[in-house]
Amino acid sequence: MLFLCPCIERESDVFILVIPFYVDGSYLQSGDGSSQISATINAPDNYYAEDAAHALVNGKLHIFGGYINGTKIARLDDCTLNELTVRLNEQRSSGHAALSIENGKKVLICFGYSSESRKTCEIFDGSTTVSTFASDSTHRFGGLGLYKNQPASVGCRDEEHQKAETLSASGWTALPDHPKRISSHSLVALENQSMLLIGGIDGNVPQSGIWQLKDENWNEIGELLQTDFSGSAIYIGRSIYYFGYFSNAIERLDFTEETEDLQKSRSNWKFRL
Ligand SMILES: *[C@@H]1O[C@H](CO)[C@@H](O)[C@H](O)[C@H]1NC(C)=O
Ligand SMILES: *[C@@H]1O[C@H](CO)[C@@H](O)[C@H](O)[C@H]1NC(C)=O
Repeated sequence: MLFLCPCIERESDVFILVIPFYVDGSYLQSGDGSSQISATINAPDNYYAEDAAHALVNGKLHIFGGYINGTKIARLDDCTLNELTVRLNEQRSSGHAALSIENGKKVLICFGYSSESRKTCEIFDGSTTVSTFASDSTHRFGGLGLYKNQPASVGCRDEEHQKAETLSASGWTALPDHPKRISSHSLVALENQSMLLIGGIDGNVPQSGIWQLKDENWNEIGELLQTDFSGSAIYIGRSIYYFGYFSNAIERLDFTEETEDLQKSRSNWKFRL
């Protein structure tokens, strides 16, 4: 699992902080692919971030749940992951997801490993956690992304269904089914009210597709250079950076300025493990 945040932005330079599942492998990746710089992150355990979900709250990277402790919440202050006293309401050791909402003031954390937590959601505002609407379908490894400025999730690793749904102020409602029994993909919102689904797995078959949900329709708009799932993606300055988990590759998908159409040029860099 990889954790990303837009860490340093110097004029046109983009650097992305990557924390792999072992904290001492952390590094800064430059957005143009030219450099990787080791980053020293302090944490209570080298596997502290393994299987945790991550999101920004008030501009600060937070991690939620994970292998070491399914209810922990930790915040990155300078270069140290500090565990907060506030806990998640539910055990979320793997398969859950986190998404910044309300202009980055809060985070929605949903789903998980055990049968009780696979539909549940809670909201963290930087100091407290409150439960909110549970989804209609299970979404373990279904992810969270924004579609039309509302949280959305697609598919489920255990139940292998194709269901997508979105969370409004009154609860979850159905979106069109995805064409595949997809899970372990990455969901990324474009500013243009559409959501991309990248990679993933269908049954036991890793995927390379880049799908777009727009105007209530799923369309495949491109492909990764190789199949991958359980990776991590971030959208910065009209480029999506996709950090593959199995391929060890980082790809940059460039979008046009005005229409956010996927451009043909793609970068592919190797990164170290
Ligand atoms: C997680 O951490 C909390 C607080 O330290 C502790 O009470 C709980 O027992 C831990 N859970 C596990 C599964 O280790
Ligand atoms: C995307 O945004 C551009 C620029 O604002 C606009 O011209 C285009 O129509 C938009 N496309 C959709 C599908 O909203």
